[in-house]
Amino acid sequence: MDAEIDSLLEDISAYLPSDQRKRKVYVTITYAQSIDGRVAGRRGERTKISGPASSKMTHFLRAKHDAILVGNNTLVIDDPGLNCRYPGCKSSPTPILLDSLFSWGASEKEWNILKNARLGVGQPPYLFTLNTVNLELEPFKQRKTAIEEVGGKVLQLPDMKWPTILSALEDNGIESLMIEGGATVIGSSLEANISDAIIVTIGSNYLGISGVEAAPTAKVALKNVKWASIGDDCILCARQVAAED
Ligand SMILES: NC(=O)c1ccc[n+]([C@@H]2O[C@H](COP(=O)([O-])OP(=O)(O)OC[C@H]3O[C@@H](n4cnc5c(N)ncnc54)[C@H](OP(=O)(O)O)[C@@H]3O)[C@@H](O)[C@H]2O)c1
Repeated sequence: MDAEIDSLLEDISAYLPSDQRKRKVYVTITYAQSIDGRVAGRRGERTKISGPASSKMTHFLRAKHDAILVGNNTLVIDDPGLNCRYPGCKSSPTPILLDSLFSWGASEKEWNILKNARLGVGQPPYLFTLNTVNLELEPFKQRKTAIEEVGGKVLQLPDMKWPTILSALEDNGIESLMIEGGATVIGSSLEANISDAIIVTIGSNYLGISGVEAAPTAKVALKNVKWASIGDDCILCARQVAAED
């Protein structure tokens, strides 16, 4: 399997963060879907879609990006660790959490992201929320404290549009971002046409019509397309066609 992974990593090398990028932050949209385009078996559920080799590729990608972003539903449903477990990886990406109304109950249990940061096996997260949220009031005050206790930050934005998010990342020294999910975040980031690379793992399964689709509201065209296979999965690497192309 190692030779297969090495060959896959060589295939994706052209799509890794580089100086050639649309904006100051290099953006990779990356996720796993079933053959029928679902990222989860049903709403509110975490579903294993890809095999161990693709999972190793995901951790390789995490090693190559400064930050990794998810939406608040993924945060609650999956309770992801968002750290890098690729062999020899020296530093995990900073988790970026999108949560307009700061609804994530950071102080309500020991979430994996916070635990990883506390144990030093993951970076402290940055939570992005609207500047209309009053962080002096409960429950936001307690939630903010839980994030800050592990070294994280709550950053308040005037809106949750992608240019605003990317500019806040740039202001915080982030030069490369992996957008990992979930469905709504993937759809909206594709619609905003902000990515420099798209890397999609297609698992060899169908999740059926109750599954959660990750799709933009309009057509998205791709270029520089490369397909690779690993284990039972297929990997699509591509770039999104820009409006001016
Ligand atoms: N297969 C995969 O690779 C993969 C990866 C990750 C997750 N998942 C799955 O995806 C599912 C969750 O997806 P989901 O669609 O329910 O939720 P999601 O994409 O995780 O989160 C969506 C929420 O993020 C917030 N948000 C803030 N700014 C946003 C922006 N600019 N664009 C989009 N969203 C923004 C919004 O809530 P507010 O308005 O409250 O801020 C929005 O409703 C779970 O089942 C999870 O297991 C699959």
